[in-house]
Amino acid sequence: MAFQLPPLPYSTNALAARQMCQETLELHHGKHHQAYVTALNGFVEKNPALQGKSLEDIIKLSYNNPDLAPVFNNAGQHWNHILFWQAMSPTEGGKIPGRLEQKLVSDFGSVAAFKEAFKAAGVGQFGSGWAWLVLAPDGKLKVTKTPNGSNPLATGEGKALLGCDVWEHSYYLDFRNRRPDYLQNWLDNIANYEFALAQLG
Ligand SMILES: [Fe+2]
Repeated sequence: MAFQLPPLPYSTNALAARQMCQETLELHHGKHHQAYVTALNGFVEKNPALQGKSLEDIIKLSYNNPDLAPVFNNAGQHWNHILFWQAMSPTEGGKIPGRLEQKLVSDFGSVAAFKEAFKAAGVGQFGSGWAWLVLAPDGKLKVTKTPNGSNPLATGEGKALLGCDVWEHSYYLDFRNRRPDYLQNWLDNIANYEFALAQLG
């Protein structure tokens, strides 16, 4: 069974009022994410060792394997974008549930400190990549960043609760080169903290 592009959990204009316009979502989901899925399926078709494997298994087995770098990039990007669509909300974006707020304050000192750390990770990711809020193996919330198609599942840095795409395709139409403003708006108005809390369990 080939990998599939999941439908967006909202319409392509659902985040326009929150500074992620319809064209951004149409291209990002319908073209960029679709291209990762198509490329991944092409690699799986040609490589029997990948056939029948889950997306997570393909990510783990191709991580840090130079021969499988293109497989890793596309499998990682498929996984990352599946999470990214869920990590945004057109109705609850930016609202932090009490239980998550307590955990953020406990592990970062304040919500503002968490946001600063997340923004710094996203801004500090040279070139393309992702900023993450993860539940680290020690039980603490941490912020991390990964280049290109990598993610915390591959690196073992923890369970991803939120992931923000800082590839230019994710913000250039709405923010041009202003990645810090995109990240600030994403954290304040778009991030789905209910989803993050649900991942926390
Ligand atoms: Fe993307």
